[in-house]
Amino acid sequence: MKIMLIAAHPQLDRSRANQALLGELKEDADIFIRDLYREYPDWNIDVEKEHRLLLEYDRIVLQFPFYWYSCPPLLKKWFDDVLTFGWAFGPGGDRLLGKEFLVGTTAGGPDRSYRAGGDNRFTVDELLRPIERTLTKCNGTYLPAFVVYDANQSAGAELAREARRYAEHIRTPQSALAH
Ligand SMILES: Cc1cc2nc3c(=O)[nH]c(=O)nc-3n(C[C@H](O)[C@H](O)[C@H](O)COP(=O)(O)O)c2cc1C
Repeated sequence: MKIMLIAAHPQLDRSRANQALLGELKEDADIFIRDLYREYPDWNIDVEKEHRLLLEYDRIVLQFPFYWYSCPPLLKKWFDDVLTFGWAFGPGGDRLLGKEFLVGTTAGGPDRSYRAGGDNRFTVDELLRPIERTLTKCNGTYLPAFVVYDANQSAGAELAREARRYAEHIRTPQSALAH
């Protein structure tokens, strides 16, 4: 399975949690890792290149820090620019059919805050629904997200453990990733 991981962090060099997750994957030659903010400092996304890459990979991992219950804005722009009518959706827009998409995100809030009655009211899965629906509208298969909670508080050893779980999660075949 060919995996492309698109990391969307405005300051990946200053990140702790997202860097920890990526650190576990860097040795894996089978995973093509990209830093979206570094690749497009002017936010001018090369749509043709993105289409070519999407066709090349079986699974696309979208990794980002949870910002205001969503993804950082360059990834939103990536959706807006790349998921085009007639290519990703609409008549003849079936190029992403069969592609697997998986979100990996880090949240500052603790697990207990992401539930009904908790501080954040909703689960992260619920809050990710606009992204889930965007990808399924584009005929993609949306796989269970991987979430690191308490991302700013986690100690190094905890983050390292999460990173190992993440590495396993994103390599797990669809059939074994229970929703
Ligand atoms: C602009 C901004 C918005 C944020 N919004 C949220 C949020 O909605 N929910 C949350 O749990 N954490 C939120 N956070 C905390 C980040 O998710 C957290 O700092 C990040 O995941 C840590 O990862 P990093 O070390 O890779 O930067 C926000 C942080 C920033 C800077």
